[in-house]
Amino acid sequence: MKALILSGGKGTRLRPLTYTGAKQLVPVANKPILWYGIEAIAATGITEVGIIISPETGEEVKAKTGDGSRFGVQITYILQETPAGLAHAVKIAQPFLGDAPFILYLGDNLIKDELGTFLTEFKEKQLDALILLRSVKNPSSFGVAEVEDGGRIRRLVEKPKDPPSNLALVGVYFFSADIHRAIAQIQPSARGELEITDAIQTLIDLQYQVNAQQLTGWWLDTGKKDDLLEANRIILDEYLESNIQGTLDHDSQVIGRVSIGKNTQLINCTVRGPAAIGDNCYLENCFIGPYSSIANDVKLIDTDIDHSVLLSGAKVMNIHQRIVDSLIGQRVSLTSAPRRPRALRFLVGDDSMIEIH
Ligand code: DAU
Repeated sequence: MKALILSGGKGTRLRPLTYTGAKQLVPVANKPILWYGIEAIAATGITEVGIIISPETGEEVKAKTGDGSRFGVQITYILQETPAGLAHAVKIAQPFLGDAPFILYLGDNLIKDELGTFLTEFKEKQLDALILLRSVKNPSSFGVAEVEDGGRIRRLVEKPKDPPSNLALVGVYFFSADIHRAIAQIQPSARGELEITDAIQTLIDLQYQVNAQQLTGWWLDTGKKDDLLEANRIILDEYLESNIQGTLDHDSQVIGRVSIGKNTQLINCTVRGPAAIGDNCYLENCFIGPYSSIANDVKLIDTDIDHSVLLSGAKVMNIHQRIVDSLIGQRVSLTSAPRRPRALRFLVGDDSMIEIH
């Protein structure tokens, strides 16, 4: 059994962050999203992991993630020149996958359920494909399954305008090598991509054994800002452990579960958990509210922040209003002028979003 994680693609929905970085490396609770997937795969005992990367962000993914030894797996990076679809990514990974059955894991998906139970069902029933489903409010944004009363899948459709059910296809799939034969038979979809959904439909049409399981725990597709903040909230809520390595002066306090990294200094700050603060940060006169993740090398002065994610090197100073529900990119600088400004000054990247009240 092998695993293939998709970490290529364009990341258009997380722009502007993804102009300069891979969306799969955006941190959730200060850990890249991609690493949760690698850890979930490593926990099943699979050691051979292929990661699909794009020409734009591949080097960054490689540099950050390494050869896999930190996760106890061996990573092979596979370059996909253009984001021509999930099934296209599987196609170009065929030399790596060979005839092995494999887990296909979309690098921006997070699920609570452990993969081991699904893997056991896949193996014991000798399935050709096992797909995971979850009911969602907005099925049109996903692949959608129409399931018969006995649980058999009748039909799968990718991002239908008129969804046949509210059961979305989760971005974690279990396949036998027969998926390669199905992929060889499909054509690009209306959006110009070779869809894995169409390949699974081909398996169904050809009477292969395709089962579906419904997820019981949460599923997060972190493609958009609000999904990412929600993922951050859930991961902090469920997994964060208190761990204070930095230094706090006498006027600072932490309440609840808080982690503070090495060489981080807090002066006259209150941190109300669950909240994670990385290494080499400097915080002075700040309130850090629940569900905040602050990456490494961040500087915050006179800042009040809540339910937000700040990426490395960000600087926020003297903003005398609470910052909430925000995603602040790497090296962003948010400051207010020393005297009450008569004008606002911006240097803001394409696709940024700023709300001023
Ligand atoms: O998240 C679940 C959904 O994922 C499923 O419900 C859909 O059926 C499935 O098609 C997929 O839809 P998305 O539109 O969300 O896929 P997205 O383009 O975001 O790509 C998913 C991941 O795969 C992402 O980490 C980028 C990577 N990728 C994507 C493409 C198109 C590649 O590595 N190569 C590609 O060619």
